[in-house]
Amino acid sequence: MKRKIKDQGIDKSLTNYGDKEFSSYLRRSFARSMGYTTKSLDKPIVGIVNTTSGLNSCHRHFPEMIEALKRGIQSQNCLGVDFPVISLGEVYLSPTSMMFRNLMSMDVEEMIRAQPVDVVVLLGGCDKTLPAMIMGAISAGKPYVVLPAGPMITNKFEDERLGACTDCRRYWSKYRGGEISDKKIKKVEGKLAASSGTCAVMGTASTIACMVETMGLCLPDASCVPAVYAERLKLAEQTGEIAAKIANKKIKKIKKINENDIYNALVVLLALGGSTNAIVHITAIAGRAGIKIDLKKFNQISNKTPVLVNLKPTGSFYMEDFYHAGGMNVVLKELKSLFKKNTFNIEGKKLFSVIKKNENVFHKKEVIRSKNKPFEKLGGLISLFGNICPNGAILKRSAADKKLFEKIGTAFVFEDIKEMTKKIDDPKLKISKNDILVLKNIGPKTVYGMPEAGYLPIPKKILKTGVKDMIRISDGRMSGTAFGTIILHVAPESAIGGPFSILKTGDKIKLSVKNKSLNVLITKSEMQKRLRNVKIKAPTIKRGYLKLYYDTVLQADEGCDFDFLQYKK
Ligand code: FES
Repeated sequence: MKRKIKDQGIDKSLTNYGDKEFSSYLRRSFARSMGYTTKSLDKPIVGIVNTTSGLNSCHRHFPEMIEALKRGIQSQNCLGVDFPVISLGEVYLSPTSMMFRNLMSMDVEEMIRAQPVDVVVLLGGCDKTLPAMIMGAISAGKPYVVLPAGPMITNKFEDERLGACTDCRRYWSKYRGGEISDKKIKKVEGKLAASSGTCAVMGTASTIACMVETMGLCLPDASCVPAVYAERLKLAEQTGEIAAKIANKKIKKIKKINENDIYNALVVLLALGGSTNAIVHITAIAGRAGIKIDLKKFNQISNKTPVLVNLKPTGSFYMEDFYHAGGMNVVLKELKSLFKKNTFNIEGKKLFSVIKKNENVFHKKEVIRSKNKPFEKLGGLISLFGNICPNGAILKRSAADKKLFEKIGTAFVFEDIKEMTKKIDDPKLKISKNDILVLKNIGPKTVYGMPEAGYLPIPKKILKTGVKDMIRISDGRMSGTAFGTIILHVAPESAIGGPFSILKTGDKIKLSVKNKSLNVLITKSEMQKRLRNVKIKAPTIKRGYLKLYYDTVLQADEGCDFDFLQYKK
């Protein structure tokens, strides 16, 4: 059979039978069993990484998005095919989706590399899915474009707007404090997640989507058009067209993340008062591209980046309001002077050339402010350093109570989640509202896999006195939709014997947001003495994915990637 085998389309990444022509012939015969003509099979292929799952409600609208993507791909004379990978539905995974982010990234990387696709569209959104897919795509080395799921719309309950998931926590807190009944919380449960799409606030999913747009990995507005709007299907069609133009070489400048993109993404994270999880994910994404994020430099950026948006969990509004106020276009325009300039997007266009300067945007000042009149003068997140967190810890200062920023308090320490759950609501608990709650052993190398348990509940007896916030410290994470004076991601973590593990109830802890410091007030010799007696608590696993996880997962300040997956020269 005479056929020129090109490294493109259906003949890309051929199965190895020791005879290329046979491999091509066999693959084509199976592909034709799906009804494709040879004409179709000779076209470049755009793969669509499909994260639809019956256990991922945020991606419920993906079948329609895939149809629109394929329309766009076909219009440019390419073939669009979707293929499945692991999907991580945030609330459906135990112990936490974080434990599986790297597994998903490996799945994505290997399937992009092994299958006959020239370019890929990464279609995802729910929390870990976009970071995992971008990490995998960077490592796979083929061109990619991103299409985020888009945020959910809001709902109503007794004349109040409700949106997942800051309101989930607000109502749960009311229920715990005895303010609302069992019957009412059940009704709220049925109203919180109103549609398909990612959480309706500036949680992890939306923060990441906005950073993705800043880096030029998706089309303008793709981060914030609500999931169920017709506009999103239009974006899908346009994204398909761009992916196909890359595949058939009409777009020649191939987007690759560089240091400037990462810098700009950090500026946006700070200006959004975005999710604390995003710093872990962007560190892991940067690590795949060989870029290191220095948390001390992050503080310098934070000190010159104002918070511009007034969205929950730190503010009042929802993602759909953000979109109607001009969304990322307005934010990028306002922050222009803070950005590194030499960056371009998936279309090969410069970042600033895609900002719509003259569009008649209804710039609602109460949703997005100008840089000169910001909501907060300083960036939403900072890292803290000190003798219990020498490699850093993260505080979302825009979601914290400023009255607690400069404080010495007495530590009340829980050794792990089980102890905390058992004791926290005990009426006999000897704790005062001025104490500092400490939860150890919820870092990456614990059986919990760094869960979002750093949002420690306020003890019921204190909650009933009307106290809504206390300083809470852990080596775990918190949901991007949560708020409070919560210090997270302490590194190194306690389970591997980091100095955080030496804390005892009764120790004095000093927090200074001004100095970016967090220390236990004990002598160096006392610290050394306690460190000598520390017991390592990281589990030893003998087989399977969990063995790989515990053997190779890195600490929070390194993005919790697996050590062997980071970029190597
Ligand atoms: Fe999917 Fe929040 S649960 S984004």
